[in-house]
Amino acid sequence: MSIAIYPGSFDPLTMGHVDIIHRGSRLFEKIVIAVLINADKSPLFTVQERVEVAREVFRDRANVEVDTFDGLLVDYARRRQASVIVRGLRAVSDFEYEMQMALMNRRLNQEVETVFMMPAEPYTYVSSRLVKEVVSLGGNVKGIVPDMVERRLREKKLARETLRA
Ligand code: PNS
Repeated sequence: MSIAIYPGSFDPLTMGHVDIIHRGSRLFEKIVIAVLINADKSPLFTVQERVEVAREVFRDRANVEVDTFDGLLVDYARRRQASVIVRGLRAVSDFEYEMQMALMNRRLNQEVETVFMMPAEPYTYVSSRLVKEVVSLGGNVKGIVPDMVERRLREKKLARETLRA
């Protein structure tokens, strides 16, 4: 069985991620969305919230699984018996970081291959970082994140404003 891991922070899940996962789910027998547990960062959504969102968005895709991981990605891939790591490539600006990660992961484990996929054109400029910035400044992100994420972003913003008031 060809199992692929799609790792990331997903803080939050964007339509760019969703697009890549749909493409991956057509290529591989199973694709595992692996949410990084990273205690160093200060994320907007907790890991649990990010897992909940991804599970809800992909509830009708039988071959999409949502999980969490920490430690080395290649160790997680080995534990899950996955032979592929999927990463999205949006623009040339992504390339350097992605190439470094892919080659480091290859050095760590020759058995796991990184496969890059390009999202649909309308999502090539979309990133979780920009989504958070736009929402925090009162902008609209409808259409570039799943509806559920958009709703949760608005709720978070409201909760933060209420706390500050
Ligand atoms: O969505 P992101 O934040 O760009 O994803 C980065 C991620 C999770 C793929 C990367 O940070 C990662 O794989 N972290 C796990 C630790 C690890 O294996 N580091 C060495 C990779 S070269």
